[in-house]
Amino acid sequence: MLELKSSLKSKEFNVKMKLMNKHNTTRIQQDKTCCFFTYYKWFLWLCLSLYFFTSYLITNDPQDTISKSNVVSHSFSTQNNLGLLKNLKVFIYELPSKYNKDWLLNERCKTHLFASEVAIHTALLKSNVRTFDPSEADFFFVPVYVSCNFSTVNGFPAIGHARALITSAVELVSTEYPFWNRSRGSNHVFVASHDFGACFHTLEDNAVKDGIPRILKNSIVLQTFGVEYKHPCQEVQNVVIPPYVSPEKIWRTLEKAPVNGRRDIWAFFRGKMEVHPKNVSGRFYSKRVRTEIWRKFNGDRRFYLQRHRFTGYQMEIARSVFCLCPLGWAPWSPRLVESVALGCVPVIIADGIRLPFSSAVKWAEISVTVAEKDVGKLDKILERVAATNLTLIQRNLWDPKTRRALLFNSEIQEGDATWQVLLSLSQKLGRSMVSAE
Ligand SMILES: *[C@@H]1O[C@H](CO)[C@@H](O)[C@H](O)[C@H]1NC(C)=O
Ligand SMILES: *[C@@H]1O[C@H](CO)[C@@H](O)[C@H](O)[C@H]1NC(C)=O
Ligand SMILES: *[C@@H]1O[C@H](CO)[C@@H](O)[C@H](O)[C@H]1NC(C)=O
Ligand SMILES: *[C@@H]1O[C@H](CO)[C@@H](O)[C@H](O)[C@H]1NC(C)=O
Repeated sequence: MLELKSSLKSKEFNVKMKLMNKHNTTRIQQDKTCCFFTYYKWFLWLCLSLYFFTSYLITNDPQDTISKSNVVSHSFSTQNNLGLLKNLKVFIYELPSKYNKDWLLNERCKTHLFASEVAIHTALLKSNVRTFDPSEADFFFVPVYVSCNFSTVNGFPAIGHARALITSAVELVSTEYPFWNRSRGSNHVFVASHDFGACFHTLEDNAVKDGIPRILKNSIVLQTFGVEYKHPCQEVQNVVIPPYVSPEKIWRTLEKAPVNGRRDIWAFFRGKMEVHPKNVSGRFYSKRVRTEIWRKFNGDRRFYLQRHRFTGYQMEIARSVFCLCPLGWAPWSPRLVESVALGCVPVIIADGIRLPFSSAVKWAEISVTVAEKDVGKLDKILERVAATNLTLIQRNLWDPKTRRALLFNSEIQEGDATWQVLLSLSQKLGRSMVSAE
């Protein structure tokens, strides 16, 4: 186990180092242009050799690269622990508490499935990509919590006020600071962590009708919503992020999980499954996929299907081989994260879903995808996987790097969800830098 861990670590290190080199190369190119005008001949020669030296490192055998690039990167910066993100600078606006902190009076605000808006802010505040000098910032983070206005009737977040709250925050930021107007908001980052993300509505029809608020159109939105096809709620620069699941809760479940790792439930789902789903202006919850699962497999001994809430459901996931992740109103679900984190193979039933952090999480290798129209054959599809490649999928799934990438920690850890967000942002730098000029 120890050996496995350390080999994983070194692999991770490798990838990181390679990425870091890439980043450094572009920095060097920038430096090159600046130096060129002052001491051109002499510096051109020096910079060119540096450039070729680093590109040599990038193209060379990765095993070799570790030690060498270590030397190179040390000469650039030694005081940062965020690896390839070390040059990234994020300025965080300090907004009046009605935009964020006030909502935390309700404890649930920090822990429910939309809480990434809180978690990312919290982690950034303590991170060393944070800069207090806005003039050197690559990005501006606008911390507005819109998902914590829980309805007193049903306990669900009411996001009706989201547009007004964000608009008012933007007005504040754009009158008090020059940076919004300068870039027309293009290097400003927001979180929209509920159903249809930047459209701020729980129902798709309304979400599509309202569209993304004009004021956000140029900005970058971190959102849980993502699909592979064209959709009005993602027509904005965006990064798909995982729904929030408390890492502490996951660790507690893992600690209590059966020591022998035995999984006595074959296929598991707990959640809303309506027998007769209502026609809500032409749409049916989960496109009736969950209804079909219930009708077809309730009573099948291989399936453990539950329709009611239960606080101990994470332990059920830890005891299961397959965990069904069918769409709800939106394609994504917190089950995706919980299944992966607890080692249960996610069975993704949500046509066209765009999953978070595809460069860090090899979704095709750790999950089973079932088309919505094939849900009636779910038993046969899963039997086939169990008979052929289940062991392989489970082994892939147990890679700690994967789990880490989907969880938001209160302080950034290398490779965790906030770190992945920053990585995605840093990859957008070209665009933002240009439009910010
Ligand atoms: C909370 O949501 C309700 C319903 O959408 C809305 O009437 C109310 O103004 C919101 N509260 C705040 C403080 O924005
Ligand atoms: C930015 O533009 C808006 C609208 O044109 C204006 O009201 C505001 O004063 C400007 N902000 C600054 C800091 O100049
Ligand atoms: C659902 O309701 C809409 C009207 O809101 C109607 O046009 C449609 O035919 C209904 N669909 C079904 C399957 O009942
Ligand atoms: C497992 O097998 C299925 C076909 O039964 C295939 O679609 C899937 O890609 C395989 N997964 C992996 C990780 O090999």
